This record gives sequence, C-alpha cells and structure tokens, in this order.
Amino acid sequence: MNSDWIAPSILAADFARLGAEACDVVKAGADLIHFDVMDNHFVPNLTIGPPVCQSLRRHLDREGVNASIDAHLMIDPVDSLIAPFADAGAAIISFHPEATHDVGTTLTAIREAGCKAGLVFNPNVPLTRLPDWIELLDLVLLMSVNPGFGGQSFIESTLPKIAEARAIIEASPVNPRLEVDGGLTIGNVGAVAAAGADTFVAGSTIFGSGDYPATIAAMREQIEAARDR
Ligand code: DX5
Ligand code: ZN
Repeated sequence: MNSDWIAPSILAADFARLGAEACDVVKAGADLIHFDVMDNHFVPNLTIGPPVCQSLRRHLDREGVNASIDAHLMIDPVDSLIAPFADAGAAIISFHPEATHDVGTTLTAIREAGCKAGLVFNPNVPLTRLPDWIELLDLVLLMSVNPGFGGQSFIESTLPKIAEARAIIEASPVNPRLEVDGGLTIGNVGAVAAAGADTFVAGSTIFGSGDYPATIAAMREQIEAARDR
C-alpha cells in the first residue's frame, strides 16, 4: 500500500487567487494538487489548460512548494496535449480510456514525456480492461461522480469498485496509486480509505471550508482511523 495522499481539486478554488490557494492547501497539509482539465466536448464544462498549469507550477516553485500537479484530463482527443502538459510541469497526467484511440499508446507517450501515467474510470465504466493496462499505469483513478462539475454527491457503488480495483492491483506485479475523485467529504473518506484507496481528491470539501488545515486534518484523521481498524 502507498502512503495516503490528499489531493485538493483546484476546480473549487478561487481562480483569481489560484497560486495562493494552491500554496495554502499544501501548507495546510495537502500532498498533491489535482488539476481538472475540461474541454466542453468530453464533458459539458470548460476549465483550464497548459498555460495555467505552467503559471501555477512556476508560482509553487517560487514559493518553495514542491507538491506535484496531478492533471486530470477530461478531454478528447488526449494525445496532442500530452507534451504541452508535460512541458507545463504536470507530474501526473491521467485521461479517460474512451477519449483516445489506443490507450496503451497514450499511456506510453505520457511516460515518454517524463510524467506518471494515469487512467480514469467513470462510474459507468467497468474495470474489465484494467488488468490489460495495469503495467503501464502509475495511477488508477476511479470517478465517484460523473465528471464535469464539482460539488456533486458521492456515488455509493464506487465503494465495491474501489475494492475491486485494489484486488486487481494486488494481483499485479506493480503498485500504482488508487485515487478516488468526486463527492468526498469528512464523512465518507474513511469508507473510501477502508475500501482500498490511497489518494483522495476533494474540491468543495476543502476549498468550501473556512479552515483548510482543520478540514485536511479531519480528513486525515478519518483515513488513519480506517487504517487502524
Ligand atoms: C469532477 C472533477 C473533480 C471535482 C471534485 O469532474 O474531476 O475533481 O472537482 O470536486 P468535489 O470534491 O467538489 O466533488
Ligand atoms: Zn478530477
């Protein structure tokens, strides 16, 4: 099992103060910056791209904050934006299998660009093909909401799917992170950890709270309690 990482989704941050918001959550105890990229085609919403990623990376570096940027691409097609995101300082690039012609080729291209490669499964996409791709993966990302918007409710059927993904990982020779994204709260993050996740995305729970350190500490407490059980 990997160490537990909390990944605030900057989708819920104040975009006018993005650099400061990202620094604040890392100083408050976050491990990774989750960067949601939407194209108004693969998902019905439009967000941010490589120039914002580059500005954010430079800002974090200037401030001495070395947390990685975890780029979650909800875009179709994927391949042409791998190099721009790698050049912009994304450390992890993940995408949805239905958004590319050849998943293996895209995963390999991400690693060849010097990044960690992740694959994202929507709530209605089964894990049937995961064993075929797992050796090319540094991250398995399970959506616990339908992608496109922050602030949605956690889909409960994600819990057995997390356990299924954990079993596939355990049966494989590799150890990618298992990340869960969407609708995570202080109230459900313990169950998500107990099911086998090690990386926890939270947008509105963290940025919607008045106290980032207290919220991140409360999430971590729930995760640690799940580990002790
Ligand atoms: C949804 C995004 C998520 C989202 C999470 O399409 O991929 O990362 O921002 O936000 P919350 O935690 O508010 O559900
Ligand atoms: Zn996301």
